[in-house]
Amino acid sequence: MESKAKENPAAYDRLRSRLESEQAQWLITGVAGFIGSNLLETLLKLDQKVVGLDNFSTGFQHNLDEVQGLVSEAQWQNFCFIEGDIRNPEDCSKACNNMDYVLHQAALGSVPRSIEDPALTNANNITGFLNILIAARDAGVKRFVYAASSSTYGDHPDLPKVEDKIGNPLSPYAVTKLVDELYAKVFARTYDFKTIGLRYFNIFGQRQDPDGAYAAVIPKWFAGMIKGEALFINGDGSTSRDFCYIDNCVQANLLAATVNDDRALDQVYNVAFGERTSLNELFGLIRSRVQKSFPAAGRLKPEYRDFRAGDVLHSLADISKARELIGYTPIFSIETGLDQATNWYMQHLLPEN
Ligand SMILES: NC(=O)c1ccc[n+]([C@@H]2O[C@H](COP(=O)([O-])OP(=O)(O)OC[C@H]3O[C@@H](n4cnc5c(N)ncnc54)[C@H](O)[C@@H]3O)[C@@H](O)[C@H]2O)c1
Repeated sequence: MESKAKENPAAYDRLRSRLESEQAQWLITGVAGFIGSNLLETLLKLDQKVVGLDNFSTGFQHNLDEVQGLVSEAQWQNFCFIEGDIRNPEDCSKACNNMDYVLHQAALGSVPRSIEDPALTNANNITGFLNILIAARDAGVKRFVYAASSSTYGDHPDLPKVEDKIGNPLSPYAVTKLVDELYAKVFARTYDFKTIGLRYFNIFGQRQDPDGAYAAVIPKWFAGMIKGEALFINGDGSTSRDFCYIDNCVQANLLAATVNDDRALDQVYNVAFGERTSLNELFGLIRSRVQKSFPAAGRLKPEYRDFRAGDVLHSLADISKARELIGYTPIFSIETGLDQATNWYMQHLLPEN
């Protein structure tokens, strides 16, 4: 099952072929969320056995229903869902029992949410993280891959971001993701437990929630343009991000779980595309796609308002470490990723009639 990763564009193709003929047991926490449900879809399509844990705090049954519709009946039978909470150690033990690989995605995302309620973010993202880490260690899983975050770079000025140069956290959310990395590192040292952290940079794509106060910018703008709602840019629009399509993120998770190279373990990796797009550019990219179905969207303009507390101004990843050590080769650019996402948002957000 395990793969030797060198820089190799075919590493993911080879891994997928091998997984199709070798069934392993995976736990996905946060399985009803955006990234978790995409991991689920890919793993079930590769005939893997998956246990999913979620408490539906920000995830949805309809994400699981959608995945069910995209896989065969036999593949769906390989999925077992546990409604539970990572803040509860018993739920974590139950979920980790007999797992080969853990892909830990469950957390409360969003910088503004963490500023409003730091204790809740701490309980989910630090206490919950520690609970699942302990349960995975006690269950003897082969590999623990977890969702880290680009927010860990905080106020470090360098661009592009390289993994070993981080600054001070700028929000409670960033603190929690940094603490998770510290715990993973200590577990590697103290218990020889195999972990890999993936610092996601603005992941986007199908099933990312467009609703609510804490929605990410891409789904929010798709929804706003389709429904004709007001669209806001925080700041002057020069703020930039390294937007990364979900399939690239799924690839990084599967490679990280199965890589068989000691140098690759007990590490964190940037997961991004490696290009920077400003919010003004992003607005144009989404508008030009929505406009094809809604010509009126072509006239939409963003309303500019104040910069948001806790946000970094620019973000761009150096992805060479992930390329070299786990064989990560992102396939989708922001443009090709937005093409995919457009189809999904059009199908799911169009008014009923
Ligand atoms: N989407 C991004 O751009 C991005 C960027 C950086 C890091 N991340 C991290 O990636 C992970 C997944 O994010 P996402 O975008 O899919 O968010 P999401 O909100 O769609 O998914 C998170 C899932 O975790 C579940 N969850 C939350 N707390 C839980 C708990 N206590 N017990 C059980 N389940 C719980 C939620 O119900 C949800 O289904 C998170 O750890 C997030 O911090 C995401």
